[in-house]
Amino acid sequence: MTFENKIAIITGAASGMGLLAAQELVKAGAKVVIVDVNKEAVEAAAQDICTRGGEALGLQSDVRIYAQVKAVAGEALKKYGRIDILLNFAGGAETRMCNCHKPFHELPVEVIDWGLDVNLKGAVYFCHAVMGAMINQKNGVIVNLGSVTGVEGSAGAVNYSAAKSGIIGLTKALALSGAPHGVRVCCVSPGPVLTRPGMANMQTRLGRTAQPIEVVDLILYLCSDKAAFITGANYLIDGGRTCGGMD
Ligand SMILES: NC(=O)c1ccc[n+]([C@@H]2O[C@H](COP(=O)([O-])OP(=O)(O)OC[C@H]3O[C@@H](n4cnc5c(N)ncnc54)[C@H](O)[C@@H]3O)[C@@H](O)[C@H]2O)c1
Repeated sequence: MTFENKIAIITGAASGMGLLAAQELVKAGAKVVIVDVNKEAVEAAAQDICTRGGEALGLQSDVRIYAQVKAVAGEALKKYGRIDILLNFAGGAETRMCNCHKPFHELPVEVIDWGLDVNLKGAVYFCHAVMGAMINQKNGVIVNLGSVTGVEGSAGAVNYSAAKSGIIGLTKALALSGAPHGVRVCCVSPGPVLTRPGMANMQTRLGRTAQPIEVVDLILYLCSDKAAFITGANYLIDGGRTCGGMD
């Protein structure tokens, strides 16, 4: 797969799968605009890609704030004149990210908002900010990150579950509106991925946790011309977890 001179915006790219996807896209020839709320980390990640001979622009942006989202799309268009790929990685379970491990009915509203806003509204905002450019180009691919949690639910991350289910609806609706204009929109819903050691505790039918590259490989395939007939689909990559019968 080649992404020679493709321009990609990747959110949540200071760490984990977002960072890995950025690095892999650059290896395949793309130029990346990497975005994260963590300014130091995203700038360091961009610097590292540039030091290795790639092209990356690292921008701080909180996906919950539309003006900051719009500014990222504006910077990308000003610098490159087009946006070929958007990968919406920014997210995480609100209970973990806000360090508030209470049952749903005891969560402060700020934690509920974090779960919904980062995981769903942030992706909606970024899709909105790039869609016009992609429609004008008559070409573009968006991949949204769902989760098995959006399919099977999680008592410990109710808002995350709701948001990740919403990501599937967002994907299907945008795929319908983008299709006449050559814009494809897909969703990838992973099971446990080893971006941190804790994920190894979550069971799968295959008896292991995914390596981040396994998910990133699927995402790059969906972004490539090889996947030109795929849009509106949600791809579970979960080691068989959602086949049922898991604890
Ligand atoms: N790791 C897993 O097991 C797993 C499983 C299913 C789905 N996912 C999803 O995949 C995506 C990436 O997961 P990961 O494990 O690589 O995550 P990660 O925690 O390593 O990275 C998430 C990034 O998002 C950034 N972020 C947080 N809030 C933000 C905000 N308001 N604005 C901009 N950036 C913000 C963080 O700073 C971080 O760099 C997430 O959407 C996650 O829900 C992960």
